[in-house]
Amino acid sequence: MKAFSKVFILMFAMIMCSCSDGSNEAMAQATMSQKLYVTIDGVTQPVTLYDNAATRELVNKLQAGDVTVTLNSSGDFEIWGALGFSLPTSNEQITTQPGDVILYNGSNICLMYGSNSWSYTRLGHIDALNESELRSFLKAGQSNISVTLSLQGATTHATSNTLVIYYSYTNKCHQIVETLTSQIDADVVRIYPADKSQQYEANGYAIGMQLLNAIKANPNSADSYPEIDPVSISLDEYDTFIIVTPLWWSQMAAILQTYLFNHGAEMAGKNVGLIVSSHSSGIDGVVADAERLIPGANWMGEALWINNANHSNRATLIENWLTDINYSAISTIIDDINNDVPARPQGIYNLNGQRLNEAPQSGIYIENGIKKIATKR
Ligand SMILES: Cc1cc2nc3c(=O)[nH]c(=O)nc-3n(C[C@H](O)[C@H](O)[C@H](O)COP(=O)(O)O)c2cc1C
Repeated sequence: MKAFSKVFILMFAMIMCSCSDGSNEAMAQATMSQKLYVTIDGVTQPVTLYDNAATRELVNKLQAGDVTVTLNSSGDFEIWGALGFSLPTSNEQITTQPGDVILYNGSNICLMYGSNSWSYTRLGHIDALNESELRSFLKAGQSNISVTLSLQGATTHATSNTLVIYYSYTNKCHQIVETLTSQIDADVVRIYPADKSQQYEANGYAIGMQLLNAIKANPNSADSYPEIDPVSISLDEYDTFIIVTPLWWSQMAAILQTYLFNHGAEMAGKNVGLIVSSHSSGIDGVVADAERLIPGANWMGEALWINNANHSNRATLIENWLTDINYSAISTIIDDINNDVPARPQGIYNLNGQRLNEAPQSGIYIENGIKKIATKR
């Protein structure tokens, strides 16, 4: 292996082992294709839902709109609290695993970062985070945590001028994004592969390399890029983008390449910054990929390279980089311009985004960007 050492492979394998959640038994139950999305403090994680009466009812409820609940830590294994409505139970004695999403007593939701045995109904599982990442995402130990449950995987309306777009396999980039968003105000979208069973590190990182070779052979064909989960976010609403990507075989990780192949052109003329995480390899190849996939970007200075040796120092590296690219001046100017732009689309729309001449007599519609429910008089 030319670019990185055997030591790196061993370390990487150890990281991957620590990501295993140990709840294979639970995941053997039938699941829904519809995901639940949990958002805490601007960070969203998908939840794979089991297919049962409780989750079908939950999905029904959320179709009428997002639900925000206030949860509290308890017993050093969960955050939990009232949903505000009841769901059908199919309780059984369960020993929870970190990441489990549980219905307790029919009307309470528990998001687990540890283990507890009780009579519960399973709702789903947060797949992407290991135990320590769950503790940080779920704010373990804290009280009054505002948690939004939604059927949509990404912010649908911009709450900032900056959008951070990232992919992360072993969560180094996830940690970088958490540090970045503690320093700047930004919306965040994480890109996920459609096929979550792939082990990109297997056989000496062979799958990662195969994906990249397919792109290299035919970079202009959509068929060359691995499938990703759909992302429902409009880039029109943003003026500045920060791309955070792992380096794979000295190139941009293939999963993020798919998103940028599909949407990079929409960033033409806008400010774009790049942060690359690698074990040790230099990032010129990733910069070249970004330039190919985002033609016409207004690049904000040099890309920031964070490697394994300085990952723990990322807060300072990011702070210095934001100063170097003059980020605060860029975002201040954009704030001023945006004061003149109506934040919400005017008019009446159905949930498919079709404009209507008048409000419907029943059902949900959007008027001037605000969700409304019509009931027959
Ligand atoms: C398929 C694959 C190929 C990789 N190739 C390289 C490489 O050529 N050089 C390197 O320094 N790191 C390489 N890495 C390591 C990642 O760049 C590094 O661990 C990064 O921090 C991962 O970010 P993530 O945890 O957000 O996925 C590779 C990782 C994978 C999965």
